[in-house]
Amino acid sequence: MTVTDTGQPTSGGPATPLPLLLLGRDADPASERGVECPGDLPAASDPDLVERARRAREALGDRAFVLGHHYQRDEVIQFADVTGDSFKLAKDAAARPEAEFIVFCGVHFMAESADILTGDHQQVVLPDLAAGCSMADMARPLQVDDAWTRLGDAGVAESTVPITYMNSSADIKAFCGRHGGAVCTSSNARQALDWAFEHGEKVLFLPDQHLGRNTAVLQLGLSLDDCLVVDPHKPDFGVTDDELRAARVLLWKGHCSVHGRFSLESVADVRERIPDVNVLVHPECKNEVVTSADHVGSTEYIIKTLAEAPAGSAWAIGTELNLVKRLANEHPDKTVVFLDKTVCFCSTMNRIDLPHLVWALENLAEGRVVNRIEVDDDTEHWARVALDRMLALPGTGAVKS
Ligand code: 13P
Ligand code: SF4
Repeated sequence: MTVTDTGQPTSGGPATPLPLLLLGRDADPASERGVECPGDLPAASDPDLVERARRAREALGDRAFVLGHHYQRDEVIQFADVTGDSFKLAKDAAARPEAEFIVFCGVHFMAESADILTGDHQQVVLPDLAAGCSMADMARPLQVDDAWTRLGDAGVAESTVPITYMNSSADIKAFCGRHGGAVCTSSNARQALDWAFEHGEKVLFLPDQHLGRNTAVLQLGLSLDDCLVVDPHKPDFGVTDDELRAARVLLWKGHCSVHGRFSLESVADVRERIPDVNVLVHPECKNEVVTSADHVGSTEYIIKTLAEAPAGSAWAIGTELNLVKRLANEHPDKTVVFLDKTVCFCSTMNRIDLPHLVWALENLAEGRVVNRIEVDDDTEHWARVALDRMLALPGTGAVKS
């Protein structure tokens, strides 16, 4: 679903207006935040939900393929045909051309990527359209177009390669495709930046400043001073022409509201409570957290590291809570704790619950395609160019191990 961005131009002006919406209420088609789920949702208290999901899933058979991101609730994950991080799920979706329906239990930008990577005969369904991503919302097409003009005025656009994290809308991926750039995920950001520096002198990294900074500093050996934050809410993006010319990595001022919560204090606190603890965090965390951790890597890397860890070892994990709870249950021989003291789920990932999944599956089984995510042809073409550049990158790995 690609829509016109209604935000105001930002260069030289005040913050872009972003109306506050309650999740799942009203509509904001210009952002990752979606619209109310149409139709009758089963009640969350319905004791037959599991059985209804099982029956609808069975009725659909090979016509449907259900993908589940690792941050999804257990009640949903139990019905996933495959689980994965955003990189693995993008590849899994592309590798199932025989499935008529791709039911994406994740967030909106992931479903868009699945639509781009699957055939025209396949339809991608997101069980709740309000499952957006606040980080993806932080880079909107008009803002990014304005920033590119700002780079052009400073004489650096031609030597800059835009790289966007998978966690961005299809429009932003298409922007990167049009301007010689690529997509990356947390498991191949290093390879994407290496590739970008083979094709230009600078990188514009969207929308997660932390993944961009952590990759540039920890993996490419650049310094913090080589990185410059580009703030869409400040006049002239908060940067001078000289600063733009001197910087190597231009970091869009976006962040993940879940991973951004972990702090140096959380790390110090857990080290005091559990002296031999291994701190393992996702690279969407702030640079000071990543620097003070023992291991850093994508969601798949976190899962693999836990699986290979010796019995009796202790782990504090800095990522989304649904996954940390699942890891703790799967590894009773190890101590697995959440890095922060306060509970922190991704509220938009959690929008997909069993009632929404049942509703989507039952509708599909009865021949009604609901909540279809469809990217328009032009956006799809250019986003695909950027995604294909990512899929052609060699290898994946840990940020710090
Ligand atoms: P990965 O799935 O790439 O690890 O990203 C984490 C995330 O925040 C997904 O929304
Ligand atoms: Fe977006 Fe962060 Fe939630 Fe992932 S965990 S969907 S990046 S808000």
